[in-house]
Amino acid sequence: MKGIVLAGGRGTRLQPLTLVSSKQLVPIYDKPMVYYPLSMLMLAGIDDVLIIALPTEVEQFRALFGDGSRLGMRITYTAQDEPRGIADAFRVGADHIKGEECALILGDNLFHGARLPSLLRRTARELRGCVLFGHQVAEPRHFGVAEIDAKGNLVSIEEKPEHPRSNLAIPGLYFFDETVTEIAKGLRPSARGELEITDVLRVYLAEGRADLVRLGRGVTWLDTGTHESLLDAGRFVRDIQYHQGIRLGCVEEVAMFMGLISAEACLDLGSEMSGSPYGQYVMASARSHRDNPVPPELLEY
Ligand code: DAU
Repeated sequence: MKGIVLAGGRGTRLQPLTLVSSKQLVPIYDKPMVYYPLSMLMLAGIDDVLIIALPTEVEQFRALFGDGSRLGMRITYTAQDEPRGIADAFRVGADHIKGEECALILGDNLFHGARLPSLLRRTARELRGCVLFGHQVAEPRHFGVAEIDAKGNLVSIEEKPEHPRSNLAIPGLYFFDETVTEIAKGLRPSARGELEITDVLRVYLAEGRADLVRLGRGVTWLDTGTHESLLDAGRFVRDIQYHQGIRLGCVEEVAMFMGLISAEACLDLGSEMSGSPYGQYVMASARSHRDNPVPPELLEY
């Protein structure tokens, strides 16, 4: 399965933070924002990822991840010249997807939760049609919203409805079968002039090929589009890391746990940042995994 991180958009709501840097490279506590969605795709078992960014920002991402080989991955980059909508990812990324299944994650979405990685791996393995997720929120009208019937079946999908039919927001992580690029070709811009992801989901729904998976209370989902939500996300990450002694979105550690790189390679990556607590954590995790390898089924990831 291929992966896409959509990391374009002008980030106007975060200016001046985003005047010379991509929004998705703004720090969330101790690492660039994009580490969090990228690590989610890796945890889903995906090692071939396209990062889509503004033309002026593609090189910033390339400077960070190169060709991905240091993480045992293939990472490529494509520019989206205009923010034409989230579903434009399937047009801009058509050569990358090349008729395969694909997971799309928005570059400003952060997920955390026990058993989430195993849920994502199962979703990827058993995919038929498309899978979207539902997460209860207090203010659903800011998001795509899913309506379900009494049996939990998906009934309708709306983009930022004024009067939401449920409090189930649709987070920015989706799994699609190989028909997604054809479906995206047939889209027309919405009233606000964007190619809407919810329109893609609606085509699958109309064909009876859309599955909604509810993320329960054990999962946290944060969208980091404003200064307030950025600070909230930073505090969330800091608190978990501080109290549990783990790091979220640590791509080097995830690469090692997923078997993409060896513990020695992970140690090398950490030692390049040994002046920071982050680098020291990567080194400690690599040493511990090297000396006492944790069997994959016991990893909390
Ligand atoms: O966060 C989840 C929500 O994301 C979903 O519930 C909505 O259905 C979906 O439309 C989207 O809503 P947002 O209002 O959050 O989308 P936004 O325009 O902020 O874009 C989300 C990210 O995608 C942002 O980091 C910028 C990037 N993006 C967006 C567009 C429209 C691109 O890279 N290119 C684009 O053309």
